[in-house]
Amino acid sequence: MVLFLFRCKLVLFFLNLSIQFFGSSTCDKFLDCISNTTSTNIVFTPNDTLYSIVLKSSIPNLRFDTLTTPKPLAIITPLSYSHVQSTVICSVKFGVNIRIRSGGHDYEGLSYTSFDHAPFILIDLNELRSVNVDQEANTAWVESGATIGELAYRVSRNDSLLGFPAGECPSVGVGGHLSGGGFGTMARKYGLSVDNVMDALLVDVHGRILDRNSMGEDLFWAIRGGGGASFGVVLSWKIKLVYVPPIVTIFTLSKTLEQGAIRLVNKWQHVAHNVTKDLFINLVITPVNQEDGDNRTMQVTFNSLFLGTTDELMKIVKDEFPQLGLQEKDCVEMSWIESVVYFSFYLTGESIDALIERRPWPKSYFKAKSDYVNKPIPEQAVNEIMKWCLHENVTLIMEPHGGKMSEIDEMATPYPHRRGNMYIIQYIVGWDDVDESEQHVASIRRIYEKMTPYVSKNPREAYVNFRDLDLGTNCNASMRSYTQEEMIWGTSYFKANFKRLAMVKGMVDPTNFFSNEQSIPPLVLSSSY
Ligand SMILES: Cc1cc2nc3c(=O)[nH]c(=O)nc-3n(C[C@H](O)[C@H](O)[C@H](O)COP(=O)(O)OP(=O)(O)OC[C@H]3O[C@@H](n4cnc5c(N)ncnc54)[C@H](O)[C@@H]3O)c2cc1C
Ligand SMILES: *[C@@H]1O[C@H](CO)[C@@H](O)[C@H](O)[C@H]1NC(C)=O
Ligand SMILES: *[C@@H]1O[C@H](CO)[C@@H](O)[C@H](O)[C@H]1NC(C)=O
Ligand SMILES: *[C@@H]1O[C@H](CO)[C@@H](O)[C@H](O)[C@H]1NC(C)=O
Ligand SMILES: *[C@@H]1O[C@H](CO)[C@@H](O)[C@H](O)[C@H]1NC(C)=O
Ligand SMILES: *[C@@H]1O[C@H](CO)[C@@H](O)[C@H](O)[C@H]1NC(C)=O
Ligand SMILES: *[C@@H]1O[C@H](CO)[C@@H](O)[C@H](O)[C@H]1NC(C)=O
Ligand SMILES: *[C@@H]1O[C@H](CO)[C@@H](O)[C@H](O)[C@H]1NC(C)=O
Repeated sequence: MVLFLFRCKLVLFFLNLSIQFFGSSTCDKFLDCISNTTSTNIVFTPNDTLYSIVLKSSIPNLRFDTLTTPKPLAIITPLSYSHVQSTVICSVKFGVNIRIRSGGHDYEGLSYTSFDHAPFILIDLNELRSVNVDQEANTAWVESGATIGELAYRVSRNDSLLGFPAGECPSVGVGGHLSGGGFGTMARKYGLSVDNVMDALLVDVHGRILDRNSMGEDLFWAIRGGGGASFGVVLSWKIKLVYVPPIVTIFTLSKTLEQGAIRLVNKWQHVAHNVTKDLFINLVITPVNQEDGDNRTMQVTFNSLFLGTTDELMKIVKDEFPQLGLQEKDCVEMSWIESVVYFSFYLTGESIDALIERRPWPKSYFKAKSDYVNKPIPEQAVNEIMKWCLHENVTLIMEPHGGKMSEIDEMATPYPHRRGNMYIIQYIVGWDDVDESEQHVASIRRIYEKMTPYVSKNPREAYVNFRDLDLGTNCNASMRSYTQEEMIWGTSYFKANFKRLAMVKGMVDPTNFFSNEQSIPPLVLSSSY
């Protein structure tokens, strides 16, 4: 029988041994080890005034920035690859748990906090963020600590006809984003970010730096979408750049329920995943007029990127989606890199230089969940869903798949949500007052529950980059092993690829050094169970 032997090792330790065991002496030894091999100015402990500034520099979600949020014993900010190697070697040697942070956008904060109450240190890759474009080969090496906004900027600055398919929020880190897939406005044309990764440098549990050739194809497969933090620290990625036309066209159109939004959402479901690959139209469905009791309603916003001119776009929309009522005056032509700023939402209207200013995502409290839809939701149900979301103040973001996404085999990368998926739904709820957290998290869970009949099932699929601990965790301290059936989150994120991921994990990190609440468990084939 096949079992995942998973030990939440530090938790079990700490149930039995006093905190003294780890406490200062192990931490001191670890720090000693680090300072023996690196310069001390890359280590921040809680006594340092900069500790809290460094820690908070990449925490977009205030839910994980409270007084009671578990914090690292030390933060290491490597300036070179050898610093990362030393940190891993010293951590392994002294049994110190680590968290790895690139951009810090993890939806559950797993890159900088820990909910298993095990002491940990944080490797923050913020300083490792170079982007080197090889214009002749149309490739680039990008370090994990770069943001996807910086990446787009550097690529485009080198050659305005080159781009890279990645997500829509420029402050997202390359390290986590590429570890989990990377979906954005060019996915229908070119696939995910990971579909365009050619090589990588990774520090493994032995502190070695491996490239694609030395790590082998199984591990190289696993790190392109298997979720971060399970296999090692990825330092850098070699990516294939893609052609972008000199002119792209964007539009944004909004309709409320009263303006016929439901009919348009229904039509969108049939068109968006099946139209030319050059056209991307997502939906943001959100409550509006919140302050104005009588006029509260849902608004549907159609955000579009078209890889071509307004004339071409108008013709396509007229043929495929005339109901939208798109007019030429709604369309704006711009360069691809300007469209990256436009789609960023929080930088819209700024110059493209804003992409390299590393302006943080506006902090707020939020919770998100995800679903995939493989058959159109009936119009009547769309109507109901809107009412539920209005009541619970939950926003839905729907992103079309199809196009290139459907051409890539389910097993080509760990991201399994390919052919047959029409679109992904992201549920999101945000708030400003810490005292309201429970209420809003309960709201989004109720919406998710009600959506069950309309979304994928067996398994109910989810996107690992929209991490959701409601799907389950490894760290149920009382349990020492799980069967595959019990690891719901694993099959939700990866379907059948979960088993291959666990086998790779078993080969490269059998003692489960690289672990967190939802890391891949090492698969152990054993006849004794
Ligand atoms: C505002 C916002 C907008 C977003 N928009 C999109 C979008 O449009 N499309 C999309 O696909 N996703 C989107 N995401 C999700 C985003 O892709 C994931 O949260 C991604 O994992 C973040 O990467 P990061 O480096 O910023 O995060 P981190 O929190 O630093 O890392 C995420 C996970 O990866 C691990 N990790 C980080 N770096 C490394 C490394 N170098 N080696 C190994 N493991 C590592 C971390 O330990 C953690 O488990 C968005 C998230 C936010 C908050
Ligand atoms: C660090 O270096 C000192 C001096 O060389 C040595 O005594 C000590 O054992 C080293 N510590 C570790 C953890 O390697
Ligand atoms: C932090 O400061 C406290 C009180 O000043 C001291 O006892 C402790 O040893 C210091 N810890 C470290 C890691 O320097
Ligand atoms: C663009 O790429 C070329 C060739 O790789 C390189 O020599 C040059 O420095 C790059 N230019 C910029 C502005 O990054
Ligand atoms: C996709 O579009 C083609 C023609 O453009 C049409 O024949 C087909 O039915 C559409 N498929 C779906 C699932 O809507
Ligand atoms: C609702 O909107 C209408 C039209 O915009 C406006 O006349 C009315 O005053 C609004 N209702 C409230 C309660 O403000
Ligand atoms: C939703 O928002 C409205 C207006 O701000 C508020 O009155 C209502 O209580 C909220 N509903 C929930 C479930 O939080
Ligand atoms: C953890 O274990 C408890 C008790 O065994 C169980 O009730 C709970 O559902 C488990 N949680 C998860 C996420 O598996």
